[in-house]
Amino acid sequence: MDRDKAYEILNKYVKGEEYIIHSEAVEAIMRKLALRFDPENVELWGITGLLHDLDEERVDWRSDMSLHGPASVDILKNESFGNETLYNGILAHNPLNGYIAKSDMEICILSADPMSGFIMGIAKGYPDKKLRSVKVSSILKRFKEARYCRSANREYMSAIEKLGLSLEEFSTLALEALCEIDERLGL
Ligand SMILES: [Fe+2]
Repeated sequence: MDRDKAYEILNKYVKGEEYIIHSEAVEAIMRKLALRFDPENVELWGITGLLHDLDEERVDWRSDMSLHGPASVDILKNESFGNETLYNGILAHNPLNGYIAKSDMEICILSADPMSGFIMGIAKGYPDKKLRSVKVSSILKRFKEARYCRSANREYMSAIEKLGLSLEEFSTLALEALCEIDERLGL
């Protein structure tokens, strides 16, 4: 699967820089998760992360969340890009469209999406706004504070535990993945 082509498609359909950055953040976490759970398919997992919000600016998901995911799959089919595994991964990141995550990759993207924003949000709250200042213990502490960053779905983030990865291990891995591209993320 061609990452350059995927990046081109992403930039064709998504114009908001914050969405592109979010897409790259989820990609980075998915690549690290793939190294652990499915090392032969790092590229596929990464590209699924990169394209998971492809329809963000194309559908009115604020009024109907069930549109988010299926519309991305339609775009990719029109572009003749991707395969069923990738499509199902995209669908799985948003259970509100009716697709429930089953495979390892599907569960990973469900968890990686909110975790990326959660960690970046913590970094943004620090005086230096640096990912490298974030500690795993801070992520775990914030996780338990229900009122902190409510939009980061705790249930989705915890889904990863079904794969035998503790929240602490997942936080560590996700933080490492984001730190590797911290300049790109501007944090
Ligand atoms: Fe997302």
